[in-house]
Amino acid sequence: MARILITGGAGFIGSSLAEALVADQSNFVIIVDNLLTGKLENLPSPDLNNWVFEQVDVNDFKSIEKIFNKYEPEYVFHFAAVVGVERTLNNPLMVLEDIEGSKNIAKLSVSHKVKRIFFASSSEVYGNPFEVPQKEETTPINARLPYAAVKNISEVILKTYGQEFGLPYTIFRFFNTYGPRQSSDFVISRFIKQALSGKPITVHGPGTQTRTFCFISDTVETILKILYNDLRLNTTINIGNNEEVSMLKLAEMTKAITGSKSRIEIIPPREEGEILRRKPDISKMLSILRRPLVKLEDGIAAIVKVWTEHRGKGIPAFPQSPYKLFNSVYLSHIK
Ligand SMILES: NC(=O)c1ccc[n+]([C@@H]2O[C@H](COP(=O)([O-])OP(=O)(O)OC[C@H]3O[C@@H](n4cnc5c(N)ncnc54)[C@H](O)[C@@H]3O)[C@@H](O)[C@H]2O)c1
Repeated sequence: MARILITGGAGFIGSSLAEALVADQSNFVIIVDNLLTGKLENLPSPDLNNWVFEQVDVNDFKSIEKIFNKYEPEYVFHFAAVVGVERTLNNPLMVLEDIEGSKNIAKLSVSHKVKRIFFASSSEVYGNPFEVPQKEETTPINARLPYAAVKNISEVILKTYGQEFGLPYTIFRFFNTYGPRQSSDFVISRFIKQALSGKPITVHGPGTQTRTFCFISDTVETILKILYNDLRLNTTINIGNNEEVSMLKLAEMTKAITGSKSRIEIIPPREEGEILRRKPDISKMLSILRRPLVKLEDGIAAIVKVWTEHRGKGIPAFPQSPYKLFNSVYLSHIK
């Protein structure tokens, strides 16, 4: 299909997308990452010859310019960012540097006539939300913390380059996503890890705060459909799940699925950054995906299975059955 650049492509979502894209031999995927949180073991199989990896900091213009000059990507997924609640709260200046990355990618996408740039924004732009569920066009942006502000500014950069230079773009507002390759900086991976090791499952108080969690195959399949069917041009789309669960319930669910004897322990609430409720309006996503979303219990069980089977080895991006594996047959089916 195309030459596709993924920044942050050794990370959780980026590498899962890369794995799906390289399954189609007509794609050539350029994976860029500075390995801040990404891992080399997330890269696609070395048996495939339709991808390359370049260790590059996208916030450094000259370095990322070389990549555009060398590979002339037709599509760009800009997923590189400093992520994780603790990491972003503890390193606000590092987070602000990511504004440079977004500007660099937008500028280079214009000068290299990229066909479309897809940006990984976040539900964090809604901040403590004014309404539930959060809708792409009407819910006011309430970004305060540096991470959320950078996502908001990056969205504005893309829209402005779109207006001024006709740069085609799509903004993904990811809500909490989870899957086999997510690090234990994030709650579901942490709970599973704690449960499997028999350590206490630690829940930030009060424990009644709710979240929604989207399984990685739902996220990636939506992205593929948008890419291959040329949907959502110059617009924003929430990508998430709308099934709400409290953190206490999630801890109990994880304990039951793993058969763990861990006790559930309430720890102090976070001082900053704890949003009490968040739930996306996903009507646009569902109209594209056209199938039910993976249930939370099934997603957690799938991760436990993958982790148990692949202990100490590279973790596959997607579980096998009962979820669809992204192979070329499947890809040609959805095009
Ligand atoms: N996972 C979620 O639930 C979620 C929710 C909302 C938004 N997002 C966004 O989706 C994107 C992917 O997140 P993820 O969960 O896969 O996190 P991740 O940490 O696994 O992936 C981010 C990747 O970007 C790389 N990176 C960071 N700074 C870089 C730089 N300057 N240059 C090159 N590479 C750099 C990291 O090494 C890492 O591999 C991020 O932009 C994140 O903000 C994720």
